[in-house]
Amino acid sequence: MPAPLGPFSVEEFLADYWQKKPCLVRNAFPNFEPEIDGDDLAGLACEPMAEARIISGAYPEHNWRLQQGPFEESDFARLPETGWTLLVQDVEKHYPPLFELLEQFSFLPTWRLDDLMISWAAPGGSVGPHADQYDVFLLQAQGSRTWQVARDYDPALLEHCELNVLRNFSPEQEWTLEAGDMLYLPPGVAHHGVAVTAGMTWSIGARAPDAADLLMALGESLAGDTVPRYADPDLSPSASPGEIDEKALERLRALMAAPLQDDDRFRAFAASFLSRFRLAHEPAPPEGGLCAQEVAERLHKGKLLFRNPWSRLAWVKRDKNADLFVSGQKFTCTSSLAIALCASQEPSLPWDELTQSDIDTLTQLIVSGHLLLAGQPE
Ligand code: SIN
Ligand code: CO
Repeated sequence: MPAPLGPFSVEEFLADYWQKKPCLVRNAFPNFEPEIDGDDLAGLACEPMAEARIISGAYPEHNWRLQQGPFEESDFARLPETGWTLLVQDVEKHYPPLFELLEQFSFLPTWRLDDLMISWAAPGGSVGPHADQYDVFLLQAQGSRTWQVARDYDPALLEHCELNVLRNFSPEQEWTLEAGDMLYLPPGVAHHGVAVTAGMTWSIGARAPDAADLLMALGESLAGDTVPRYADPDLSPSASPGEIDEKALERLRALMAAPLQDDDRFRAFAASFLSRFRLAHEPAPPEGGLCAQEVAERLHKGKLLFRNPWSRLAWVKRDKNADLFVSGQKFTCTSSLAIALCASQEPSLPWDELTQSDIDTLTQLIVSGHLLLAGQPE
């Protein structure tokens, strides 16, 4: 699938722009026809499972107002003609055909992608100038929006405001995006989008854990395991008993690093963590339950498989096979099965290459609700 990078090759984009500087791609999606519209988005924002917000206000007035969903139809009827934005997270998980859009970004590892957030803005709508910690591809899906950006900016936030809005913002560059245009922004670049005409921006967001996320999760994963405890059989007499001396610091550092040196443990931890990081909901097993026997029979009939939209997959090599992690849970399979399952929401499986143990893994994935058989209720 060609990457939606217009005149830029993937290599060029990664070398010159990714995590470095903004990249405007005019007509990244020629003749883009959004599969959902503002009414669909408003409908979704009324669902209890959806994470939705309405933000109104403008810069530099700083008259911001944030309302959290779920909303009622009457909330939308009360909104003015201008100056507000509806934002909904994880839209692809609610409308799985939209995963196809994310699949066009598979020049990036899938574990780096977070979700598709869609905003619908009335003319003048804005969420305020701000900077995000994550890379984002802002695809103008409908209407037009002006984006101002600054790489060098005053990071002071507006006080007493629920939104992370910059108090002052002086743009360095400005572009107006029309339907099909896309703007890539690396983390830490201040940006301010203002709708020129009513329309939608689709944000394909990346995710990147920081060291605190990883260390906290590592700590949790170790709790309950047998792990080494601080020991100092080589202790020498203390010259100043209140001091944590160099040798003690060295022993502590080595103790903390020990779990990271255990290759099997580290690989399993990394894949398990990344397959559930920033996941808003746990995929639930199918209603009514399915027994392994039933699943095996249906699989033999060649039933179509779909991934549960809330299941996240990532795998690591183990010898010639794969340890596949699905939303934190480990399954073992061949690399061929892991690759096929990660490639698409509707994986097409290499049946000829699958082993009996792969079929057992598929069965477990179906019984636990990570894979759905066509016709099975979600
Ligand atoms: C928006 O869609 O207006 C906000 C997206 C962003 O700034 O990251
Ligand atoms: Co942003």
